[in-house]
Amino acid sequence: MQKVIVLGATSGIGREVARLYAFQGCVVGITGRREELLSELRAECPEQFFASAFDIGAVSSVENHLDALAEQLGGLDLLFLSSGYGKRNSELVAETEQLTIQTDVSGFTAVVGWAFKYFAQQNYGHIAAVSSIAGLRGNRYAPAYSASKGYNMHYLQSLRQLANHQKYNIYITDIRPGFVDTQMAQGNGVFWSAPVHKVAAQIVRAVNQKKKVVYITKRWRYVALVLRLIPRIIFEKL
Ligand SMILES: NC(=O)c1ccc[n+]([C@@H]2O[C@H](COP(=O)([O-])OP(=O)(O)OC[C@H]3O[C@@H](n4cnc5c(N)ncnc54)[C@H](OP(=O)(O)O)[C@@H]3O)[C@@H](O)[C@H]2O)c1
Repeated sequence: MQKVIVLGATSGIGREVARLYAFQGCVVGITGRREELLSELRAECPEQFFASAFDIGAVSSVENHLDALAEQLGGLDLLFLSSGYGKRNSELVAETEQLTIQTDVSGFTAVVGWAFKYFAQQNYGHIAAVSSIAGLRGNRYAPAYSASKGYNMHYLQSLRQLANHQKYNIYITDIRPGFVDTQMAQGNGVFWSAPVHKVAAQIVRAVNQKKKVVYITKRWRYVALVLRLIPRIIFEKL
């Protein structure tokens, strides 16, 4: 039976992914800050879900929480990181920018750093983390968010190179969604917003196949290609 931790399982992508892993017969550690939502999810399958409520932005306690949860599961094969924060902030409201960095940079680093060391010790494991198409280039709508997601992509690539260099049997999957119909994307005038159940199914399939980088849904691969090709001088005037 596979042992999985899903961070950000109280809503959106993480919750659907946690459900799919439970459906596949995995034992699943579920996390997020909203305890009542964790309890609701746990009640759907109490023998497979183990809950732990904590804030990944409180980086000094992240390792202890994850150690305890992995012990409860009896080990760990896959860590899936879906916790994230971001909203439009062209006004550069300092609180929004800082909260984004605290969650998507500091929290992210604490979580994947813990997982990498855990898997290095047992010489196997898989880290899958949700970045975003928004991380491919900076954008005026959400500066800290796009920068943080770019950081996620580079960090995951660094870990993949480190695993190869040290000959660790650790897989790293960078999941890059376009718009997904979750709380985070609501009311932002988004287009091509994909339903969360479709997104979760495509993500789990890609993680099971141990893909390195995946665009979700598939059409966003072409958007990514175009985004990358636009010359900087033009891009910065958009
Ligand atoms: N929706 C989109 O269009 C879209 C597109 C590309 C990428 N993404 C990425 O996908 C991931 C999941 O987002 P979503 O769309 O599913 O949004 P969501 O429904 O708002 O889910 C975000 C999850 O992150 C958790 N979280 C936020 N801050 C946290 C913190 N400080 N500590 C612990 N958990 C925290 C939330 O749980 P609590 O609030 O209970 O803590 C929640 O479970 C994010 O990384 C997001 O950037 C989303």
